[in-house]
Amino acid sequence: MTTTIDGARIARRIRQQVAAEVAAAALSGTVPGLATILVGDDPASAVYVAAKRRAITEAGMRDFHRHLPHHATHDDVAAVIDALAADPEVSGILLQLPLPVQLDAATLIDRIPVTKDVDGLTTTSLGLLARGEQGLRPCTPSGIIALLDAEGIALKGAHVAVVGWGELVGRPLTHLLLSRGATVSVAHEHTTDLAAVTRPADIVVVATGVPGLIGPEHVRHGATVIDVGIHRTSAGLRGDARTGELIDVAGRITPVPGGVGPMTIAILLANTLYAAERGTRPYTVPV
Ligand SMILES: NC(=O)c1ccc[n+]([C@@H]2O[C@H](COP(=O)([O-])OP(=O)(O)OC[C@H]3O[C@@H](n4cnc5c(N)ncnc54)[C@H](O)[C@@H]3O)[C@@H](O)[C@H]2O)c1
Repeated sequence: MTTTIDGARIARRIRQQVAAEVAAAALSGTVPGLATILVGDDPASAVYVAAKRRAITEAGMRDFHRHLPHHATHDDVAAVIDALAADPEVSGILLQLPLPVQLDAATLIDRIPVTKDVDGLTTTSLGLLARGEQGLRPCTPSGIIALLDAEGIALKGAHVAVVGWGELVGRPLTHLLLSRGATVSVAHEHTTDLAAVTRPADIVVVATGVPGLIGPEHVRHGATVIDVGIHRTSAGLRGDARTGELIDVAGRITPVPGGVGPMTIAILLANTLYAAERGTRPYTVPV
């Protein structure tokens, strides 16, 4: 029997919890605000930003959105980031990726002050994560940890295989898992025997952007599979795991859609609330 992990339900609970805290903060005159910056008209990015803005408004936070044309220069984007950085009403700044080719994402992300870095992707935030110090953490990896916590899946001493070492998911997740006491194996495109890495694991997290990469040959009976991939196909959204083939092999599995995706937005809201409080309490992944 394989259990489907209902990420949408867990995310809803976190969002309600954040909304209640925002309402309480509003009573004392503080309303957290998130600024999303979209450069260009990439349809997928526009959908993601619209979903984030909807969630921000629903949580009772202020929505500061900036849309720049696809031909925006480095100086154009930098000026917008600097203005938002200086605005005390703006608690968090999110630069939607990918950026048009003329722009260097790493340089622009590093203009975001670490206190407003709700995506947790500046060099400073990632350095704090690697050193195990307080700081805002990237949303998708934090969402995965929150999902596992909510399901009561123990991390201390567990063997976790992380497949994919990307900057947004695999790398930061590896640090988060290590800091929670997991034993982590990391596989990537140069791994010669993927199944040899994943089969001994209690938990397999796949974030590669390769549709259907992980199947029953990679998963030990009863292991948990967390599927981070998102691919639009004619049959709807699909992930990096062959979910159908993993039924009765995996003990638990996240669906696509409705697994990790909703958690990413829920953690973005939690991060914005944390940023608004300016680190007056320790950062914890909400459950
Ligand atoms: N659900 C969400 O909210 C969410 C958020 C962010 C990213 N994603 C998805 O997660 C996936 C990964 O994102 P990313 O930005 O970290 O990707 P990335 O492109 O930065 O990294 C991909 C990683 O996968 C590895 N890889 C590629 N082919 C492989 C193979 N055959 N075997 C093993 N490893 C392989 C690469 O070595 C690399 O480390 C993408 O599909 C992306 O759409 C989902």
